[in-house]
Amino acid sequence: MNFDGKVALVTGAATGIGEATATLLAARGAAVVIADLDEALAEKVATAIRGDGGRAAFIGVDVADEAQVEAMVDFTVAEFGGLHLAVNNAGISQPEQRTHEMTAQVWDRVMNVNLRGCWLCLRAEARHFLANGGGSIVNVASGAGLKAGPPGLTAYVASKHGVVGLTRNAAIDYIRDNIRVNALAPGTTATSLLKAYPEETQRAYAALMPCGRMSEPSEQAEAIAWLLSDQASYVSGTVLEADMAYLQK
Ligand SMILES: NC(=O)c1ccc[n+]([C@@H]2O[C@H](COP(=O)([O-])OP(=O)(O)OC[C@H]3O[C@@H](n4cnc5c(N)ncnc54)[C@H](O)[C@@H]3O)[C@@H](O)[C@H]2O)c1
Repeated sequence: MNFDGKVALVTGAATGIGEATATLLAARGAAVVIADLDEALAEKVATAIRGDGGRAAFIGVDVADEAQVEAMVDFTVAEFGGLHLAVNNAGISQPEQRTHEMTAQVWDRVMNVNLRGCWLCLRAEARHFLANGGGSIVNVASGAGLKAGPPGLTAYVASKHGVVGLTRNAAIDYIRDNIRVNALAPGTTATSLLKAYPEETQRAYAALMPCGRMSEPSEQAEAIAWLLSDQASYVSGTVLEADMAYLQK
């Protein structure tokens, strides 16, 4: 899998699955934009990639903000002369609260980042792709986009179901435009998103995985890279379950 000559944009790339994906794409030849709310951490990732001989730039962005998302895509094109691959990965979880306990603020932020943010990014990317011959998009959903999660995660689960629906319909929208849109449904992965929960909760999430361990961010990155790549040229509108049969049990 070689991405020489390609420009990739990865949101939420300062850490976790996004960082692993950006690092992998750069190692395989892509010029990569590290886009994240945490600009200082994004800069560190870009510096590390450049230190390893890759091409990387960074930008601070809140994916829930329309103007910032437009600026992020413009920045990518200005920095590297194009955009071919996009990973809409930025996402947040929520405090564990049953549905009636959740505040509207929690609901709104989770939906604004995970679903609206994903759509805003996809829209800006698709506009560029339509005007420039196509491209490939991966939205990072979750197993929680395909079935209920543990109790207390209604906003997160609803947002990720939304990402799956967004992916499926956007794929149809662009099916004749050389734009592929797919989603990844990672199993439980060892990242800071998970580490924000108490240890007992982390253990419970890890125990959901039938194979007995969490995935590493690099394992999710490999699946994303394949979906992005020309090797997946006849794959669009799919949700790849990278979860070692979690959803099958
Ligand atoms: N870790 C898991 O077990 C798991 C499982 C399934 C799906 N996912 C999904 O994978 C994606 C990546 O999560 P992760 O586990 O690597 O988490 P993470 O917390 O390690 O990384 C998420 C990154 O997104 C950034 N971010 C958060 N809000 C943002 C915003 N509004 N704008 C821009 N950047 C923002 C954060 O700063 C962080 O760098 C998320 O969409 C998450 O829902 C994670």
